[in-house]
Amino acid sequence: MVSGGRGILAADESPRTMSRRLEGVGVEPTEEHRRAYRELLVAGEGLAGRISGVILCDETLRQQLADGRPFPRALADAGLQTGIKVDTGTVALDGPDDGETLTEGLDGLAERVAEYVALGATFAKWRAVLHLGAGRPSVRALDANAEALARYARVCQDGGLVPIVEPEVLSAGGHRLEVCAAGTARTLATLGRALEAAGVDPAAMVLKPNMVTSGEGSRQPADPYEVARATVDTLRATMRPELAGVAFLSGGQSSETAAANLAAIRRRGGPWPLTFSFGRALVSSALAAWAGDPARVDAGRSALRREIDRNVPAA
Ligand code: 13P
Repeated sequence: MVSGGRGILAADESPRTMSRRLEGVGVEPTEEHRRAYRELLVAGEGLAGRISGVILCDETLRQQLADGRPFPRALADAGLQTGIKVDTGTVALDGPDDGETLTEGLDGLAERVAEYVALGATFAKWRAVLHLGAGRPSVRALDANAEALARYARVCQDGGLVPIVEPEVLSAGGHRLEVCAAGTARTLATLGRALEAAGVDPAAMVLKPNMVTSGEGSRQPADPYEVARATVDTLRATMRPELAGVAFLSGGQSSETAAANLAAIRRRGGPWPLTFSFGRALVSSALAAWAGDPARVDAGRSALRREIDRNVPAA
């Protein structure tokens, strides 16, 4: 999934989030428009050498391309693996004003995993969200989310899906890089202990962390060298060397910044393959180029290809 510089395309926004993104480019948020947009993303030529798989949400996994093939089948035909987002989203951890969240989705997970395997999925994703600042992330948020991620990963491994384990420390705020580094280190250390306690095989999972950056509102953004040093050092200090790979999320960084940071992270290197599993940094320009116009599908595909190429090292 992560070999040879190949990455993973995250196209698993929930119907609600996807509808918001469609409205953002003036497209009516219907189920058919969500389907057509995902077909644009996955049905182009030549993705297979650059990405290994695509993460879908439940809705897309059950939809079909215009030619009648279900999405997992079309992906397999193109040499790509199908991933499925299996968490059901976040709820407030301690009530509506709390500001911290817990990601849910463990109910009936083993049964859903079995169904997704039957539908053609080979890997899964679960995203936990941690907030920085004013005592956050709290020990309670760290423990609860790590516990759920570990349980999810174990259920997936037992059921035949490779889990992508995503603990995202959000970049909101004007903080310095050191604040993100400390919050990310606590998050990953807690997660590492939970994975071990749950008996998760590190060699059969992919970690999907945030890069360690300064806050998105920072006046002096950290440069790629600083980001790479802090990111790799934090990962080395907290994660087992046996991990199958690390595939970063883009977390709202511009395409250019995410690619520059990833290149620097790869230069610094680690004991694991280091690659991308970006959502927005890969698809935002494709969505804008298409904007719902069937005549602009090729323009959308070219934009996606450009963003993917930016992140795949020259052979
Ligand atoms: P971004 O790259 O847009 O952060 O999305 C990645 C992802 O899969 C979020 O769960």
